[in-house]
Amino acid sequence: MSERLGFEHVTKVYESAGADFVAFDDITLEASPSEFLAIVGPSGCGKSTLLKMAAGLIPPTKGKVQLGGNTVSAPPPGVIYLFQQYAKSLFAWRTVIDNVMFPLEGAPRSQRAELRARCEDYLRQVGLSGFENSYPWQLSGGMQQRVAIARALAADPQVLLLDEPFSAVDALTRMELQTLVLQLWERRKFTAILVTHDVEEAIFLADRVAVLSARPTSLKEIIDVGLPRPRDQLATREDPRFLKLRHHLTTSLLAKGSGHVVAA
Ligand SMILES: Nc1ncnc2c1ncn2[C@@H]1O[C@H](COP(=O)(O)OP(=O)(O)OP(=O)(O)O)[C@@H](O)[C@H]1O
Ligand SMILES: [Mg+2]
Repeated sequence: MSERLGFEHVTKVYESAGADFVAFDDITLEASPSEFLAIVGPSGCGKSTLLKMAAGLIPPTKGKVQLGGNTVSAPPPGVIYLFQQYAKSLFAWRTVIDNVMFPLEGAPRSQRAELRARCEDYLRQVGLSGFENSYPWQLSGGMQQRVAIARALAADPQVLLLDEPFSAVDALTRMELQTLVLQLWERRKFTAILVTHDVEEAIFLADRVAVLSARPTSLKEIIDVGLPRPRDQLATREDPRFLKLRHHLTTSLLAKGSGHVVAA
């Protein structure tokens, strides 16, 4: 199950120390149901702010976020937000399986055995069978991130928001986790919005990549990736079309100002 998520003319003004700070003004952008959308842009342009709005954690100052037919005004049950360093979001005092089962805690007692079996299956899907009774601090960073991914899946999201989810792990683990997220997305077809600084990661994972400019933030362009799926860490990255997209997006990000750059 998945939903369309749309930012409609959203503006965010933060008030800090009595002064207004415009994070961005009038951004319109959408992810269709089951789409994998990436958002790239310089530090401070408002990427996390957009995701927090989509997760219902902060309201837009103007405009609205639409999830399916509804306007987001509080955290919607079907939207899961994986924080920038989400290994830190695990509960250190809970075992791995109890972390994964956390979103299902409200379920009736009679369903617990079945839900536990389902969560064990999520752990198997992320390659962590046998670690159910370990504590997060007994695992490596990459393994902790896998637990966080399994927990997100246990919530059965319609929309998964990923905020630089792989920035804290080494390059190899990063590629493994990218492949894992892609496989899970291909199986479950939730709507995914990924924020990243990494142009290659955006192209590798996404159907479309939205480029934001530095502040004053504007939506510079949205490119269609169009690379075949399933994607492969070597074959996809060596595809001449991948290299052309990387060139185009890097040029776009390096260009000063908010104007459009030539098409790929
Ligand atoms: N709670 C807040 N109060 C005041 N200003 C804020 C707040 N949160 C973010 N900002 C400002 O809004 C702007 C956008 O912040 P945001 O975290 O969305 O940027 P970002 O694109 O995610 O950056 P990064 O790539 O570094 O994570 C920044 O300039 C930041 O200083
Ligand atoms: Mg951010």
